[in-house]
Amino acid sequence: METTLIILKPDAVQRGLSGRIISRFEDKGLQVVGMKLMQISQQLAATHYEAHQSKPFYAGLVRFMTSSPVVVLALRGNGAIAIARNMMGATFGSKANPGTIRGDFGVSNSFNLIHGSDSPEAAERELKLFFQPGDVLNWTRASETWVYDMAGGKPE
Ligand code: RTP
Ligand code: MG
Repeated sequence: METTLIILKPDAVQRGLSGRIISRFEDKGLQVVGMKLMQISQQLAATHYEAHQSKPFYAGLVRFMTSSPVVVLALRGNGAIAIARNMMGATFGSKANPGTIRGDFGVSNSFNLIHGSDSPEAAERELKLFFQPGDVLNWTRASETWVYDMAGGKPE
């Protein structure tokens, strides 16, 4: 099972879309194992997006991400990282396909509603940035045996 770090960005929270976006992940079968509302500090935004430090959009990105509260989620599932990235859609709202979160809820390129870890290494790093030990819960879903085929002893 993989766990991925999702951030519902300030525009998603301000526009009242948090619940609908979280519902999409729940509907898909991903399990919420961590969730909180928080305001991202300058330092945390800088660390989180340090790979983009030299990019022209970096200053605006940090300003946006720290401007208003966000909802941070840890989502778990088989292949959760790629599944969540596919559900998010292309980076720019203007280009994202219908049926994706960015494609259905936004038109802006920089106010693009959601962040998702893009690799297992990124997920491990980002989960540690946003969640303290013990904040991510290993809990058993009542529906688990109907979300996955467990006949072979592992989730299929
Ligand atoms: P994210 O990291 O937020 O999940 O988004 P992503 O992987 O789809 O896109 P990435 O290339 O990592 O860019 C990070 C965020 O920077 C903003 N951005 N603006 N104006 C621009 O050219 C531009 N390019 C990127 C977006 O908010 C993007 O999500
Ligand atoms: Mg990225």
